[in-house]
Amino acid sequence: MFKLAPSILAADFARLGEQIRMVEEAGADELHIDVMDGIFVPSISFGMPVIRSIRGESGLFFDVHLMITEPVRYLEEFVKAGADGITVHAEACEDLKKTVEKIRELGVRAGVSIKPETPVSALQEVESLIERVLVMTVNPGFGGQKLIPACVEKVRELKLHREKTLGGYDIQVDGGIGLANVKAVAEAGAEVFVAGTAVFRGDILQNVKAFKEEVGLAD
Ligand code: DX5
Ligand code: ZN
Repeated sequence: MFKLAPSILAADFARLGEQIRMVEEAGADELHIDVMDGIFVPSISFGMPVIRSIRGESGLFFDVHLMITEPVRYLEEFVKAGADGITVHAEACEDLKKTVEKIRELGVRAGVSIKPETPVSALQEVESLIERVLVMTVNPGFGGQKLIPACVEKVRELKLHREKTLGGYDIQVDGGIGLANVKAVAEAGAEVFVAGTAVFRGDILQNVKAFKEEVGLAD
């Protein structure tokens, strides 16, 4: 039921292939891949060439989180590079519905993310079309930040909303997730946990194991 998606943003890029194999062997469920354009968020990370290279190294589900303006321009290229699922930001799309429809047409899992200040209502026009909602628990742009508690309340609100509307998406959280808070966030309604620093800092195998034990993550 619960899933762990380590974010490679916190990996050692000089040893990326090796570290991805470690999280895979340790039982990670998906690999979270953060793409940043320096416009939608202040930082720049990496793009298609990196995804293409690691695609050859790993059989994990590639969960690509696009923190880029007008992602509709690049969806096809990310799928060709190896994305299995693409999550776009509601705030970054001029036509969110069209963007989601395009992801679906490309045959990969469609997700939409909302920043801490964006309300759940921003999902309205696409909630029947998506398989994942990513509730950001920090302001996107950097790893290693502290979780914003109000975002956990938003997870709770979204879960109730999903129950009422019979939504078919899962709820993912991203930013500042670690052993100290994962249980509380799960209790609020999150099912998929992104963790960068908490997985890649220190002993990777041990970190994944501890995470899975803490919330009873499914194998
Ligand atoms: C932040 C990214 C996150 C980030 C999480 O903008 O979307 O995926 O890598 O990193 P931690 O777990 O260190 O907060
Ligand atoms: Zn992310």
